[in-house]
Amino acid sequence: MTDPLRLGIAGLGTVGTGVVRIVRQKANLLARRTGRAIEISAVSARSRTKDRGVSLSGYAWEDDPVALATRDDIDVFVELMGGSEGPARAATEAALDAGKDVVTANKALLALHGQELAERAEAMGHVIRFEAAVAGGIPVVKALTEGLAGNEISRVMGVMNGTCNYILTRMEETGQGYNALFEECAQLGYLEADPNLDVGGIDAGHKLALLAAIAFGTRVSFGAVELEGIQQISLDDIHHAADLGFRIKLLGVAQMTGRGLEQRMSPCLVPADSPLGQLQGGTNMVVLEGDSVGQIVLRGPGAGSGPTASAVMSDVIEIARGTRLTTFGQPAAGLIHPTPARATAPAPYYLRLRLSDKPGALAKVAAVLGEAGISIDRMRQTRHDEITAPVLVVTHKTSRDALDRALEAFPATGVVVDEPIAIRIESI
Ligand code: NAP
Ligand code: HSE
Repeated sequence: MTDPLRLGIAGLGTVGTGVVRIVRQKANLLARRTGRAIEISAVSARSRTKDRGVSLSGYAWEDDPVALATRDDIDVFVELMGGSEGPARAATEAALDAGKDVVTANKALLALHGQELAERAEAMGHVIRFEAAVAGGIPVVKALTEGLAGNEISRVMGVMNGTCNYILTRMEETGQGYNALFEECAQLGYLEADPNLDVGGIDAGHKLALLAAIAFGTRVSFGAVELEGIQQISLDDIHHAADLGFRIKLLGVAQMTGRGLEQRMSPCLVPADSPLGQLQGGTNMVVLEGDSVGQIVLRGPGAGSGPTASAVMSDVIEIARGTRLTTFGQPAAGLIHPTPARATAPAPYYLRLRLSDKPGALAKVAAVLGEAGISIDRMRQTRHDEITAPVLVVTHKTSRDALDRALEAFPATGVVVDEPIAIRIESI
């Protein structure tokens, strides 16, 4: 039998303990599938004494992840700490410089430094694999890099953040507010160390940027993703959307157009009976469109210990089998700088405005929309207090530019109270 593949694991939280469990419990299966033993040589985390619910006996301990990454008795550095800077970045760089392959679940690190790390790895003949970084247990990185490698990819889209999908679906199901559901996500191990990455759409934006790089042969350009989070979405929006036959999802879309690469991650209304509308809880869905294959839909758990560890192990197994793939599906030095393009395709929009409850207020709003060239499909005034009235508008298809003109003009009407909420309606 070939020599064992020796792992050094930095990070023993939700994902790291899941990986330790698989390595310990499935040694025979892993050896059968790869033709060699997969072993853990050493581990690292902040606290050496914390009870992690999994045995660490037989593994050396390092307080410093950089020291772990450069140990002679590891072949693969498995980075499961998180964070785009600090120990995750330092230890990953140190591992590559010390001649190790790297497996990581860290989308933030790769979204911000993926190009530089990929070039560094490839120059030295090492690999960086990151299946767990995008959509948890769904093997979407492998699907794009390998299964669909013979396709020109036209579009990548999907729901890629379990926390946001959990909060949005549970708000509708339970009528509970954001804070209680946020707490449930923490219990389930869905949250990033900085939860603003989740609810601000940043985590999902990182994932979209990584998939776009593979799909379109471009350098990862997270800075060009048009980003919007779910913090503005209220229970009222959830209920109004449901009344209109929609559900709200944090949806990402990346496509290459004649004007350049469009990447956007924002809340959208989708038909409640569509596959995306039916997506519940922490589940993710990624839709890939290729010229030969047509459309592929991948659906599965987007977060949590078991699913994410499953994805980490798929990378470890790939390396154990001797498969050596470039990070983004082609040599990093050849990835092109994309021209960022704003998403301009017209769409209907849902608008929620709070108006002063006085004569002529609705007419003023309708006039602003008309002057911006926006046609109204439906308009509804809902229950109101003594001085203000919430008004919902569904527009016909309009461009984002026209919508922005209307949003800029609303304050001058003197009747629009609070910042209006505008959410794109996707027909997929
Ligand atoms: P977590 O539960 O917070 O665990 C982080 C681990 O890293 C902890 O064990 C922590 O040590 C250790 N750590 C943090 N800073 C360290 C340092 N300076 N030195 C040594 N160890 C350090 O995080 P997680 O949810 O497992 O996520 C890990 C990575 O996977 C992140 O990149 C995340 O984005 C990604 N990811 C997570 C999920 C998910 O469902 N959770 C899914 C996909 C991807 P202590 O335990 O001692 O504090
Ligand atoms: N916080 C992330 C999510 C974990 O909720 O999707 C998986 O990447």
